[in-house]
Amino acid sequence: MCYAIPGKVVGFKDKKAVVDYFGEKKFAWNEFEDLKIGDYIYAQGGFVINKIPEKEALEILEFWKETFFELRERDFRLSSLDNLSPSSKKTRIILDRALEGKKLKEDELLYLLNLEDRGDIEYLYKTANFIRQKYHKNACCVHGIIEFSNYCTVNCLYCGIRKSNRALNRYRMTEDEIFFTVKEAVEKHGFKAIVLQSGEDPYFNVEKLSALIYKIRKNFPLLLFISTSEVGENGLKEFYRAGARGVLIRFETSNPELYEKLHNEKIDERISEIESARKLGFLVLTGGLIGLPQQTPEDIINDILFAKKLKPEMYTFGPFLPHPQTPLRDEKKPDLDIVLKTTALIRLHDPYGKIVSTTAVETLDPEKGRISAFMAGANSLMLNLTPMKYKKFYQIYPERIHENETIEFQIQKALFDLKKLGRAPTDLGI
Ligand code: 5AD
Repeated sequence: MCYAIPGKVVGFKDKKAVVDYFGEKKFAWNEFEDLKIGDYIYAQGGFVINKIPEKEALEILEFWKETFFELRERDFRLSSLDNLSPSSKKTRIILDRALEGKKLKEDELLYLLNLEDRGDIEYLYKTANFIRQKYHKNACCVHGIIEFSNYCTVNCLYCGIRKSNRALNRYRMTEDEIFFTVKEAVEKHGFKAIVLQSGEDPYFNVEKLSALIYKIRKNFPLLLFISTSEVGENGLKEFYRAGARGVLIRFETSNPELYEKLHNEKIDERISEIESARKLGFLVLTGGLIGLPQQTPEDIINDILFAKKLKPEMYTFGPFLPHPQTPLRDEKKPDLDIVLKTTALIRLHDPYGKIVSTTAVETLDPEKGRISAFMAGANSLMLNLTPMKYKKFYQIYPERIHENETIEFQIQKALFDLKKLGRAPTDLGI
């Protein structure tokens, strides 16, 4: 199974290759000096990640062709707004403006976040899904994530792997284990974009991680994202030099007082880390937690506005889920609707961005979480590649979904869900 379809290079514009996918043209940054018109490539996150022989590409495209158009048609049908309308006139006026491509004002976003009428709420989701279809067609990125260490030296109030959780078994994968997990993900399962994530584990300093990134990138055509401790601009430069091209780093909340309460640290450092990453050319995956104690609807709107300013490649906003071994154990988890509304508002606010349907939303509602997020504007997935024996210990929140599922099972389930919705597991580049 592959998670991207091959594209054909049909031209160049500056440092970007123009790539054709079944007649549709996309751009992808090119770092291959010998790439030429007529070559077939895989692109991920807007980067050319490798070239593939023509024969192989044509075989894959032949296999995909029919399915590709079939899925597209299904998605088109499911995202249609024909004959639908919200309950209230005000909702209609605001969402019509969004559909015309107008930028909604803060108070309009807040009005939508606070909707209570079911008909209005459903129409908001459908509008977001319509806009997703219009700008992204049915493409869905499927990335993998490897959580390679749950050691952590910090004490975020919400997080189950916080330093003070003495009840948790700690693990640290060896560099070889990480390398072979990546190898299997790429060679056996066809992943083309992988996130390496850990707690703030001092063992994996910039030097060790850079060496690992270099070794992985030397061996595999892969878009590699890093999600570890804050390492500052110099650390990030090392990661880039070694071959990482993305970072996953949430700002968690853009409310400085709330951030400080939760992390016992000022927000500035986190923000400057994200801004440095952007400046250095990394693709940035970022977002926040939804439903934190004391977080207001205004805070959530501010988080959406703030996230967009960071120009992320992908938004990752998930629900806060209380963990019994943290100071926030007695807090409430949010409703599915507030998570879906946030997803829909991100889509309205940034039609071009990718939005991931998080594992946390699936955990919040194992039955409907993933599909509902996809039907409210989301268009990306991240599957958990952490080896089975470690997965259950990466317990940022309890009872994480997919904890006991093999990667094969997760892939089958993801493909099943995507097919049902008419989505294609591809990344067609920017
Ligand atoms: N509930 C939901 N998400 C959490 N994270 C950490 N703890 C929790 C929790 N209790 C998220 C944070 C972090 C990511 C790795 O996990 O947003 O950035």
